[in-house]
Amino acid sequence: MNTIEAIQTRRNIKLFKADPIARETIVSWLEAASFAPNHRMTEPWEIRFVGPETRAKLNHKTDFGGAPVVVLITSKGAPTPIDREEHLMASACFAQNFLLAAHDAGAGAFWSSLAASPRSREILGVPEGDDVVGIFGVGYPAEIPQPKERTPIALKITDLA
Ligand SMILES: Cc1cc2nc3c(=O)[nH]c(=O)nc-3n(C[C@H](O)[C@H](O)[C@H](O)COP(=O)(O)O)c2cc1C
Repeated sequence: MNTIEAIQTRRNIKLFKADPIARETIVSWLEAASFAPNHRMTEPWEIRFVGPETRAKLNHKTDFGGAPVVVLITSKGAPTPIDREEHLMASACFAQNFLLAAHDAGAGAFWSSLAASPRSREILGVPEGDDVVGIFGVGYPAEIPQPKERTPIALKITDLA
């Protein structure tokens, strides 16, 4: 799969097969993801594998589509708002790389915002000042949603003098 094809065909997966995925496989995607752009090599992302007990406490409405693995990606806090914002930008790049690596391997992920709520942050032990990028069900898709139409990019481009 070439890069453009990977970007265009990745989907947010809502339903997974029960087939397991080896932790080392997921770690290899995370390793690849860590080549994301990041300011001053801060590598501000952190990853937690969410075990069954914690997952049950989260009580996600579809239990992450039945994904065999759930992974939380957070972004470290920082002393200044600009640093914190840049951390979050780099961590979002990391997350996208991770999604593309999984997709390239025939797997997929369900990105949920659930972990950003105060209740979930507490359950997941996210320190105050750190940002939640997302919580991801990861597995092999049982269903691949149709792509959603995008706004033509020409409508988003402006030329500055
Ligand atoms: C910051 C962020 C939060 C998201 N939160 C959710 C969510 O809570 N539930 C969900 O179903 N999808 C969530 N998504 C996934 C988007 O809904 C999805 O990417 C979008 O509909 C486009 O679909 P596609 O990724 O399949 O192209 C989130 C995506 C991002 C970037």
